[in-house]
Amino acid sequence: MKKPAPLRLLGDITPAQFMRDYWHKKPLLIRQAIPGFKPLLPFEELAELATRDYVESRLVSLTDGQWDMQHGPLDELPPRTQPGWTMLVQGVNLQNDAADALLRQFRFVPDARLDDLMISFATDGAGVGPHFDSYDVFLLQAEGQRRWKISAQKNLDLVEGLPLKILSKFKADEEFVLEPGDMLYLPPQYAHDGVAIGDCQTYSIGFRSPSYQELGEAFLQFMADSIDLPGRYADPDLAPSDKPAEIPKHMLGTIADELNKMQFTEDDFTIFLGEYLSEPKHNVFFTGPEKPLPAGRFAQSAAKKGVTLSRKTQMLYRGKNVFINGESFAVNRADKVTLETLANERKLDGAAVAAASEDVMEALFAWYTDGWLELN
Ligand code: SIN
Ligand code: CO
Repeated sequence: MKKPAPLRLLGDITPAQFMRDYWHKKPLLIRQAIPGFKPLLPFEELAELATRDYVESRLVSLTDGQWDMQHGPLDELPPRTQPGWTMLVQGVNLQNDAADALLRQFRFVPDARLDDLMISFATDGAGVGPHFDSYDVFLLQAEGQRRWKISAQKNLDLVEGLPLKILSKFKADEEFVLEPGDMLYLPPQYAHDGVAIGDCQTYSIGFRSPSYQELGEAFLQFMADSIDLPGRYADPDLAPSDKPAEIPKHMLGTIADELNKMQFTEDDFTIFLGEYLSEPKHNVFFTGPEKPLPAGRFAQSAAKKGVTLSRKTQMLYRGKNVFINGESFAVNRADKVTLETLANERKLDGAAVAAASEDVMEALFAWYTDGWLELN
C-alpha cells in the first residue's frame, strides 16, 4: 500500500499523524505551511465586507490601557497609520471563492466540525489580548508579522468587566514570530496572545463544537415537531377527593408512564444532528439565478457541464439520510452514491448528472433555483 503523503499544509506530517499527535492535544507551529502565501483579498475589500450587515465583524482597540470593542457593521475605521487597532471579519469563506477554497483545504477535518475563515487586519502593536478560545484554531499568517505568545496554563480566569475576554493571569511559556505562510495550530482552551509587528493580517481557520446544553435544547425543540403520542388522559376509576388541591397519584403515575414511552431512536439523533449542523447561520442568505433556466434546459446544461454547490451550502450525510442547508431526506442506494459524491466533492461532473435519477434531477433543479448550487 502507498504510504499516506504528508499534507503540505501540515509541514512534513500526514493528516493522520496530526490528528493523532496534535489535534486537541498540543500546539504545532508549521513554518511555511503555504509558501509564498499572500492575502486572498485586498484590505479595501475586507474593510468593505465589514460594512455589510450580513457579515459579522468587530473592531478591537487598546488605548491608554483601555480595551474597547465595537461590533459591526463598521462604517468607519481608524486611520491605517494609527497603531493598536484590529478589525476582525468572520465567515469570509461565505463571501469569497478563494477564502472558501482555503478553508476547504482543511477538510481532513469533517465538514461537520469546520466552521469558518476569520480574517483579522491589525496595525502595529495591535491584538485582541491574551485569551483562550473554546475551539481548535489554525492561525495562518497572511501579511506582515505577528508575535504569538502561548501558554499551557490551566488558570483561565478572566478580567471582569471588560468588553472582551482577557485572561487575568497570562504567563507565556513559548513565543514565536510568524511570517507570511507560517501557521500555528492551537487546541481548545490554549492561552494565546498575538501582537502585530507592523501591518498584519492573520487568517483563523475555526472549528465548531456545539455545547451539549445547546444540542439538548435544540434536540428537544426538534422532537417537539415530530413526537406522536396518541390518546388522552382518563380516570374512569377516579374516587371522590377530600384534598382537592392535591394532584392525584394515579394521574401523575399514568402520565409519567405515557411520557416515558417517548423513545429517542438513532434515526431521531441522526436526522436532528444532520439538520442542525447543516442549518445555515442566521446571517446567510441564498440568491438564486436572476433568470433561472427552465427545468428541461437546466437538465441539458447540467448534463453537459455539471454542477457545483454554492460556497454557502452545507451538505452532509449519514447512512441513508442526506442533509442540505437544514433540510433532510432519506434516499435509495443509487441516489445515495450520486448525492454522497456531490456532498464530498462539492460538485458533480456532467456524466454524473446525466446518469442521475429523476428524483435527483428534481432536487438539483430545486437547489439551482434556490441558489444552493450552480451550473458549472
Ligand atoms: C486575531 O487574529 O487577531 C485573533 C485571533 C485569535 O487569537 O484567535
Ligand atoms: Co484566539
